[in-house]
Amino acid sequence: MKHLLQIKNLSVSFSTLSKKVRALRGVSFHLKEGETLGIVGESGCGKSVMAKSLTRLLPPVSSNIDQGEIYYKGEDLLLKKESELRKVRGKEIGMIFQDPMTSLNPTMRIGDQIIEGYALHHPHASREEMKQRALELLIRVSVSDAQSRLSQYPHELSGGMRQRVMIAIAMISSPNILIADEPTTALDVTIQAQILGLLKEIQKKEGMSIVLITHDFSIVAGFCDRVIVMYAGRIVESAPVDELFRSPKHPYTRRLLNSIPRLDLPSTRHLYSIHGSPPDLSSKIKGCAFSKRCPHAMHLCYDGIPSPIEVTPDHHTSCWLFDPRVERKGPS
Ligand SMILES: Nc1ncnc2c1ncn2[C@@H]1O[C@H](COP(=O)(O)OP(=O)(O)O)[C@@H](O)[C@H]1O
Ligand code: SF4
Ligand SMILES: [Mg+2]
Repeated sequence: MKHLLQIKNLSVSFSTLSKKVRALRGVSFHLKEGETLGIVGESGCGKSVMAKSLTRLLPPVSSNIDQGEIYYKGEDLLLKKESELRKVRGKEIGMIFQDPMTSLNPTMRIGDQIIEGYALHHPHASREEMKQRALELLIRVSVSDAQSRLSQYPHELSGGMRQRVMIAIAMISSPNILIADEPTTALDVTIQAQILGLLKEIQKKEGMSIVLITHDFSIVAGFCDRVIVMYAGRIVESAPVDELFRSPKHPYTRRLLNSIPRLDLPSTRHLYSIHGSPPDLSSKIKGCAFSKRCPHAMHLCYDGIPSPIEVTPDHHTSCWLFDPRVERKGPS
């Protein structure tokens, strides 16, 4: 599979009045054509900043891309002008976010919001044609009573229906890549499963690639091909999903996996929660960012930042335990 998207050494920071937050600290990864890539990590580790950086949707005044390259179809998106990027957003790379209520315009009818994105990329389409396309899409994302929904406002729809509308908005221009940032977090488990099922079905028909961002490891199991685990603005592990579940390497990944509730075990079984909290991204982080929470931390972990090590082809982890230059070997 070809690389559709290639991110190289991306660092992003925010400057506030009192401090500088280094939210992304040298992130490199790729997305293959047609694959579903999961990005997992605790809240605050930089997942949304990464998603927004990809099409430069970060607040222009307070954010800064300190370094890096983002190649889409061989061109660096970071070198593109705003007018060129507008052609990429929506049409090439679509996005859906966690909370449709803040992404949808509360004062605009559902039909007009779906049509708006289409009109931007199809300036010559007639109003009737656009309305028809919006209706078809609402039916496709299984919005009940689609015809009358077109003239409703977001507050008249349930959370699940609003998220379906967000998917319809993202799909109207048939993007090559869909970035879904916690698309089901606000929904109950049944609706969550329906929305993920719907995304898979659309992906099958359209052949698009999906980046699914979530703090919930259990979601990626049945949905993703490959997973990236993030911690404190860096990628600490990446692997095909089966391999990661079968043989996680990084102590942070192992802890995250241990904290997933298991239906096959008695409910009395103690679940690990990861003690402590991630480091403050506005402070200087020396060595491995996980060292203060890691049961395997060694002296060198407090000084040197571990580099990515290939464990098996396509499986990498950034942990000193797996660095062949270090004598001690990792947990089996
Ligand atoms: N607009 C912003 N201004 C300042 N800091 C921000 C802004 N957006 C995100 N951050 C900071 O960047 C870090 C990563 O945030 P985010 O990507 O939203 O985390 P996640 O999506 O993984 O929960 C956090 O420390 C957050 O406070
Ligand atoms: S580098 Fe050291 S502190 Fe960091 S995860 Fe590995 S063993 Fe733990
Ligand atoms: Mg987020």
